[in-house]
Amino acid sequence: MRSVATLTVALLLPLVSLAGTATAAPTQTASQTPSQTPTAAAPSTLAATPPMGWNSWNRFGCHIDENLIRQTADNLVSTGMRDAGYTYVNIDDCWMAPARDAAGKLQADPTRFPGGIKALADYVHGRGLKLGIYSSAGTATCQGLPASLDHEQADAQSFADWGVDYLKYDNCNNLGRPAQPRYQAMSDALRATGRPIVLSLCEWGENKPWEWGKQVGGNLWRTTGDIWDAWGRMTDILDQQVGLEKFSGPGAWNDPDMLEVGNGGMTDSEYRAHFALWSLLNAPLIAGNDLASMDYATKRILLNRDVIAVDQDWGGVQGHRIARTGNIEVWAKSMSDGSAAVALFNRGDTTALASTDAHALGLPATRDYAVRDLWTHEDAETSGAVRASVPAHSASVFRVWPNKGHGQTPLSTFSLQVPEFTEVGKPFTITGQLYDDGSTPLRGGQAQLQAPDGWVVDGGPVVTVPRVAAGQNWSHTWTLRPSAAAFAANSGNDVSVSASASFRTITGQQARQLDTKIVAVTLPPRGDVLLGDQPWISATNGWGPVKRNSSNGELDPGTGHTISIAGVKHEKGLGTHAFSSVRFYLGGTCTQFHAEVGVDDEAGPQGSVDFHVLGDGTELAGTGVVKSGQAATVLDAPTTGVRVLELRVNDGGNGNRDDHADWADVSVHC
Ligand code: GLA
Repeated sequence: MRSVATLTVALLLPLVSLAGTATAAPTQTASQTPSQTPTAAAPSTLAATPPMGWNSWNRFGCHIDENLIRQTADNLVSTGMRDAGYTYVNIDDCWMAPARDAAGKLQADPTRFPGGIKALADYVHGRGLKLGIYSSAGTATCQGLPASLDHEQADAQSFADWGVDYLKYDNCNNLGRPAQPRYQAMSDALRATGRPIVLSLCEWGENKPWEWGKQVGGNLWRTTGDIWDAWGRMTDILDQQVGLEKFSGPGAWNDPDMLEVGNGGMTDSEYRAHFALWSLLNAPLIAGNDLASMDYATKRILLNRDVIAVDQDWGGVQGHRIARTGNIEVWAKSMSDGSAAVALFNRGDTTALASTDAHALGLPATRDYAVRDLWTHEDAETSGAVRASVPAHSASVFRVWPNKGHGQTPLSTFSLQVPEFTEVGKPFTITGQLYDDGSTPLRGGQAQLQAPDGWVVDGGPVVTVPRVAAGQNWSHTWTLRPSAAAFAANSGNDVSVSASASFRTITGQQARQLDTKIVAVTLPPRGDVLLGDQPWISATNGWGPVKRNSSNGELDPGTGHTISIAGVKHEKGLGTHAFSSVRFYLGGTCTQFHAEVGVDDEAGPQGSVDFHVLGDGTELAGTGVVKSGQAATVLDAPTTGVRVLELRVNDGGNGNRDDHADWADVSVHC
C-alpha cells in the first residue's frame, strides 16, 4: 500500500445507524411490495444458515480462561452482536487439562477453567447464547493437549453432558489415518448422544472435505489452512474458494476460516472487504476479535445487518466470482427473494472504478432495479448498471432488486482517472467522470478540483456540470502542473488529489460526490543513488512490506534486520519476499544499475528465488534460481533511456516459502 491513505466517498449519504435495519427491499407502492418472507421457508436443519458467533483462537490463542469466555458472552449481549445473530461462543484449543481423568474422560484445565465446562455452558446459555468447544481427530490437539481420536464416544458424551452446542474438530496428530473415518466416528458419537451439536470439520481442506464433509455429518468444513490477520492471507484464502460454491448449502457449509475483523493487522477497508466477501461466500461468521475493546469501525462492520442478511439468506446459495479484470473482481450471490447481492472488490492500491450489471448478476430484464449500498444503507434506482468508485483494498457491496427502483434517486457515480505517477513541473491530466445509471436525468451543477497548494490548474479548478441524461455520463479533463514546492513538501511521496461534482436529481435532491486519488510525484534521481533511500512509485511484496536498508525478516521473531547474504552483511539495500515488484522512476536520466542479490540468511532452508531487473518492461538483467546460503550474485546493467525501473522477485518455481530476497547495495548511476 502506498503511504497516503486513499479515501473515496460517494455522498448522497445521510449518516447511518450502526446496525442498519434493513433486510427487506426498499419500500414501494403496494403493488411493488417485495414478496420476500425471509423466515417462512427456513428449514429446521442444524446450521440451516451459516453459524455465527465468536471463537477465541485468532485473538487469544492459548491465553484463555473461563473469565474471558464469560466476559465475551456478556459482550456479545451488550454490543448487540447476539441480537444480530452471533450466538455461538466457541472455546478453541487449550481449554483442556494436560491429562484425562482417572476414568479416561477429558477434563477442563483446573487453573484456567476451575469451574468446569458445564458451569460455563450454563452461564452462556443463561445469556441466550450457545457454547462451542474444540478437540482434534488425533491423539493430541495442535497444542499438544489430549484429543479425541479413539475416544470419540466418551468425549462426545462429555460434551453433551456439559451442554456443549458446537464442536470444532481439528486435524493435528492424526497418525496419518484417513480423514473420513476419523470425522465419521465423531459425527456418529455426537449423534448417539441425542444432543444437537454442530460439527465443524477443521481438516484444512487437505482431502477435499467439500466432497464428503456433508456425508460424514459435518455442518461445515474448513477449505484451507489457517487464516491470519493480513491482507495477503485473506485474499489467498479467498482465491481458494473459487469453484467450491456448488458444494455448500443449508446445513453443510464451506468454511474459509474465522474472521479477523478488528484484530489490527488490516485496515478498516480491508476488513470491510473480508467481511463482505465472507458473507457472499456464505461463510460461518465467527468473529475472532477482543469484544471488550472493539472500536466503532469494527462494530460497524460486524453489526452491519444488511451484509449479515446476505450471509444468512435462507436459500443458502453460495456467492461466487463472476468477473475478474486486473485488480477488480465482481462477486455475486443470488438471494432467495429474487434479488442479487454483489461485491465490487478492488485488490489494487488505489481507488478504482468498478461496474457490473443486472444481466451479469443473473437478474431478469426489468424496467428498473432498486439498488442498496450495503455499507451506507442508501437506496437508489438503476436501469441495470451497478457501478462504484471502490477504495483501495476494499469492496463496495450492493443488493439489487428487479422492478423496485421506480421513484428512487438515480444511481450516480463520480470517478477520477489519474496517472500513477508524474514528474515535477511537467503537465499531466486528471479526468473526472460523472455517470448517471438511473432512468432519470441529473441536473447540472459544478465540479471542482482540489489540487495541493501551489499547483497550477490550467483554466481553473471549477467547471460547470451540464445536465446528464439518463444512462449517460459527463466528463471533464483538467491539466495540472505539480510545483517543485509541493514536491518538496511531500518529500517526493504520494500526493492526494480530489475532485467533487455536485448536481440535482429530478426529485430536486441536491447531491455532491467526491473522489480522491493518489499520484506519485517524482523527480528523476541525480548522481549515484542508493535505491534503498529513494522513493518508489509502487511496491508489492509476498510477505509484509518491502523494507528499506534491512531484510524482510522483521516479521519473523528473533531475526535481525541487517541484510545478510551467505554471511556477508550489507547496510544498504531493499529487503523483499517473493513475489515482489518494486518500481522506481528514473525519467531516462540514469546510465547504470548495480546490485548484489541473494536469499537472506534469516530465511529457512526452502528459500529459493529468481531476480529480474526490468527497464520499461524489458529485462535488463536477472539471475536463475538462487537458493538459501548461496553467495550473492552481482547484477550490473546499463539503463540509458529507461523511465521506469522494476525490481522483480519470483519464487524460483517452488512456491514462496522462506523466500526472503535481498537487493543488497542496489543503486543507479544518473
Ligand atoms: C489449527 C486450526 C486452528 C486452531 C489451532 C489451535 O491450526 O486450524 O484454527 O484451532 O489449530 O491449535
